[in-house]
Amino acid sequence: MLWNLWIGVVALTLSHVAIAAASVFRDPDTGLTFASEFTNYKINQGITYRIATPPDAVRGEPFDMIVQIVAPNDVGWTGIAFSGSMRENPLLIVWRNAAGNGVVASTRWARGHITPEPYAGASATVLRTGTKTNGTHYQATIMCSGCSFWRTASGGTRFLIPNESNRIAMAYSPTRPSNANSNTSAISVHDVHAYWPHQLNQGVNANFRQVVQTLQ
Ligand code: HEM
Ligand SMILES: *[C@@H]1O[C@H](CO)[C@@H](O)[C@H](O)[C@H]1NC(C)=O
Ligand SMILES: *[C@@H]1O[C@H](CO)[C@@H](O)[C@H](O)[C@H]1NC(C)=O
Ligand SMILES: *[C@@H]1O[C@H](CO)[C@@H](O)[C@H](O)[C@H]1NC(C)=O
Repeated sequence: MLWNLWIGVVALTLSHVAIAAASVFRDPDTGLTFASEFTNYKINQGITYRIATPPDAVRGEPFDMIVQIVAPNDVGWTGIAFSGSMRENPLLIVWRNAAGNGVVASTRWARGHITPEPYAGASATVLRTGTKTNGTHYQATIMCSGCSFWRTASGGTRFLIPNESNRIAMAYSPTRPSNANSNTSAISVHDVHAYWPHQLNQGVNANFRQVVQTLQ
């Protein structure tokens, strides 16, 4: 098993100091291998962001991803900005549902540093496999289509490079969306954001399509 571990220190807004750690994660729930990143959003508390990709993703073309996010229950919402910054790229955000026994995922798009809108160019399907909650955490496993390729307002194409590390970003808010069962709920602004190079090449799965077919 190849473990590639690095520790980085990232300064966050609000003077928070984050410890980021990348690893390869073999997920017992889905059977997929993920490129995994653990990032602190407050002192001694972190969120894990994992991405699994298909073996035949082509540079410059869209590919599906399985995204897994593990967050402590005090995370109101958290999300990934796939371009590594907030504006003009698919944002994938997750939160606990109103009953606290499930997870809602939503795709958004920000025209600026303003409240992002629901984004129809990508779709996020919460899979039952690998999605769970308990007394301390919630975990979402999501099929994200349209999250790896997008067009900016000026028409340029942008994409994740499947066999390299790509800078992506996270954001965190302590406030759960007001209409927690709706994936178009209003959300409140984040307290913290952070960036890291996500090593997508470490989450490539030779049997991606076969495995994904079995996930519900
Ligand atoms: C109500 C919703 C939101 C509001 C009002 C908002 C507002 C802002 C503002 C004003 C900044 C600039 C802060 C600074 O420069 O210090 C910012 C930065 C940022 N936001 Fe948001 N945001 C929202 C949602 C989101 C979401 C859903 C994500 C990602 C999932 C996100 C990701 C980021 C990131 C990564 C930055 C760092 C600067 C950048 O890369 O553009 N934001 N946001
Ligand atoms: C909300 O969920 C519906 C049904 O799964 C989906 O078609 C739609 O794209 C989602 N909207 C957002 C903003 O994620
Ligand atoms: C709660 O769920 C998280 C995320 O799935 C997991 O890492 C943790 O071990 C679980 N805790 C218990 C006590 O089962
Ligand atoms: C990724 O693949 C391209 C060809 O599609 C190749 O030119 C490039 O060197 C590869 N990058 C790495 C880090 O392997």
